[in-house]
Amino acid sequence: MELKLVRKNLMSQHETLRGLMTDLEGALVTGADTTALIKGLHDALVSHNAAEEAVLVPILTHIDAWGPTRVELMLTEHRSEHALLVEKLSPTAPAETLRELITHMRGHMAYEEEHLLSAKLLQDDVVIVDAD
Ligand SMILES: [Fe+2]
Ligand SMILES: [Fe+2]
Repeated sequence: MELKLVRKNLMSQHETLRGLMTDLEGALVTGADTTALIKGLHDALVSHNAAEEAVLVPILTHIDAWGPTRVELMLTEHRSEHALLVEKLSPTAPAETLRELITHMRGHMAYEEEHLLSAKLLQDDVVIVDAD
C-alpha cells in the first residue's frame, strides 16, 4: 500500500473518531445514556489503533532523520498510550474522566497528524508490504 493511501485511511479514521467524541461530549452535557456511544468509540479506537500500529514501523522508518533507537522508543510509547486510552474508555468511567480522555485523544491525534501522518511526510510512492 502506498504511504499516501495509508495516510488517507488513517486520517479518515481520525475524522470518524472525532465525530464519535463530539457525540459523546454532547451526551455528557445533556445527561443522555452514554453506554452505546462509549462502546462505539471504544471499538472504533481499538480498530484504528490496530491499523495504525500495523503501519507505524514503515512510516517511522520512512522518516530518514530518525535512528532505529528513536523509532523503537516511539513505537513503545505509542503502543502504551493506545493501551491506556482503550483501558480508560469504559462505560463505568465518570464523566470528568471521559472528558479528560477525549482531550487526551484529540491531542494524541493532533500529534500524529503533525509528526507522523503529515502530507509532506507521506507523499511519495513508497510501498508498504502488508503484514498478512
Ligand atoms: Fe496513535
Ligand atoms: Fe491515530
